[in-house]
Amino acid sequence: MKVTVVGAGNVGATCANVLAHKEIANEIILLDIKEGVAEGKALDIWETSPINLYDSRTIGVTNDYERTAGSEVVVITSGVPRKPGMSRDDLIATNAGIVRSVTENVIKHSPDAIIVIVSNPLDVMTYAAYLTAKVDSSRVFGMAGILDTARYRAFLAEELNLSPKDIQAVLMGGHGDTMVPLPRYTNVGGIPVTELIDDDKLQAIVDRTKVGGGEIVKLLGTSAWYAPGAAAAQMVEAIVRDQKRIFPVCAWLQGEYGLNDIYLGVPVVLGKNGIEKIIELDLNNDEKALLNESAEAVKGVMEVLDRM
Ligand code: NAI
Ligand code: 2OP
Repeated sequence: MKVTVVGAGNVGATCANVLAHKEIANEIILLDIKEGVAEGKALDIWETSPINLYDSRTIGVTNDYERTAGSEVVVITSGVPRKPGMSRDDLIATNAGIVRSVTENVIKHSPDAIIVIVSNPLDVMTYAAYLTAKVDSSRVFGMAGILDTARYRAFLAEELNLSPKDIQAVLMGGHGDTMVPLPRYTNVGGIPVTELIDDDKLQAIVDRTKVGGGEIVKLLGTSAWYAPGAAAAQMVEAIVRDQKRIFPVCAWLQGEYGLNDIYLGVPVVLGKNGIEKIIELDLNNDEKALLNESAEAVKGVMEVLDRM
């Protein structure tokens, strides 16, 4: 089982480290454009194997796509991270160029690969990769929902003083401030969250979740990597182990939720074929309105890309 991670920066290296540590793939290729960076980080990860007791091999390469040939899954994290004061949308021009050229190389050497996009602005970079890859949309999708839901779940666990393990939630929409956490589809050990927390506290957590990426940027001066890297690795695990897990994933919609020709976060079943099913929830009018608002925001950025 071979998995490639493109971009050996904060998110890519963290993702490769989780893939190795959890033995999700036995060969992990970490690729970067900067000479020596992927090689150095891959070597450092490999040197944790005797400590963490695993035998997955991580190999770093500089722009050598021949070495990625035959990868079953490729995670694309290459790009420029968001800096303070910079919106995700500001990143579009630079990152679209990077994502397009990386996707071309990936598909050339691994024509059957499933591609997971992480680069921002996420929904639109996934769209750029899909247009470039020219493969079925079940094989090109984006990571954001697992991260955003994890933030929501972590904030709830903190507020309730309960284990995050027991908190299940659905969150939809674009990876931006218009994302739609869904309290009606949130439970703690099977108990609806609305029975455990006041409305105003729940709303404050929903609001904090929506700007969860920005909260880290303000603290660090760059964007998050531990949770994003782990979230991308969890998607790879569901694919390579054919787990049929339900996750919020940035998927190409063709009529689902009344939306067409758009990449947006929705719950899907993830298995060996990539997105095996898009789950359509019965949203109420308020939830539908929020989702449509989020779709409009994503469409606006897609149009910027279409015009470029
Ligand atoms: P980083 O700057 O630490 O790493 C990016 C890496 O990409 C660098 O090592 C750079 O050399 C490499 N790179 C640039 N152009 C390349 C090319 N053409 N080919 C191969 N490698 C190339 O950035 P970080 O923090 O790892 O973030 C990566 C991306 O992920 C950013 O766009 C960031 O906004 C996004 N992100 C998305 C999240 C999500 O939920 N979808 C969460 C966190 C970050
Ligand atoms: C995050 O949500 C910036 O997309 C990045 O952390």
